[in-house]
Amino acid sequence: MKALFVGDVVGRKGLERLKEELNVILKSENIDFCVVNGENSASGRGIRDREYNEIINLGVDVITMGNHIYYRKEMATEYIKLKRLVIPANVTNLEGHGYCIVEKNGLKYCVINLIGKFGMGEMFEKSTVSPFSKVKEILENLKDEKIDYIFVDFHAEATAEKIAMGYMLENKVNMVFGTHTHVQTADEKILDSGMGYITDVGMTGPKNSVLGLKKEIALRRFEENEYLKYECSDEDAIFNAVIVEYDDNTRKAINIKRINK
Ligand SMILES: [Fe+2]
Ligand SMILES: [Fe+2]
Repeated sequence: MKALFVGDVVGRKGLERLKEELNVILKSENIDFCVVNGENSASGRGIRDREYNEIINLGVDVITMGNHIYYRKEMATEYIKLKRLVIPANVTNLEGHGYCIVEKNGLKYCVINLIGKFGMGEMFEKSTVSPFSKVKEILENLKDEKIDYIFVDFHAEATAEKIAMGYMLENKVNMVFGTHTHVQTADEKILDSGMGYITDVGMTGPKNSVLGLKKEIALRRFEENEYLKYECSDEDAIFNAVIVEYDDNTRKAINIKRINK
């Protein structure tokens, strides 16, 4: 079994690049299951039904989210209706699926989304419970479900928090991949237990930008301390992802490949 995990898709340029890449890679790499972080797909801020449908129609199995869940107020009552969209399970004040189970080609998959506690802003300090205890609770609930593969998108800022999550879940899930920083880390690995891990998958979004934001705006924000509205860069996008191949008998990862192009 081969799974593909794609980092935060940012805006229209990110979506265009995602489409272009998935059209080729799903077939050329024989991908069985694909997870995409879509928290920035709607002009850099959140997701709407439009982007959800667009991404799912590309052959993506599950879309994960992150701190952008609050950006589009009209979506607050919609998340729960989107069957293949998961929002951070440890957020307490929003209705949505914290994990989702998908049966495909005789296998049962589960994708869990969590958000970190460090450096995610004051709002999240109040509106979340510990991602560590929440994921243990979810795994306990899944015990009788006979899931073949469990994948966790840990949307977090702090590298230590993500690495610690990886070790805590080492014998319990099949992949822990970080998202949110929009910068891919070069630490992809297979842990002794056979779990795949990367601290951050990176971003599928505008190349010469500051995490997807127009660089001119970002510079003025930092240099002049000026508050300017977010504007998504219209530069061509990079594609950041990770492919993990598993042994079908042991369910252990046998190969992990980082893509940054
Ligand atoms: Fe984020
Ligand atoms: Fe993001």
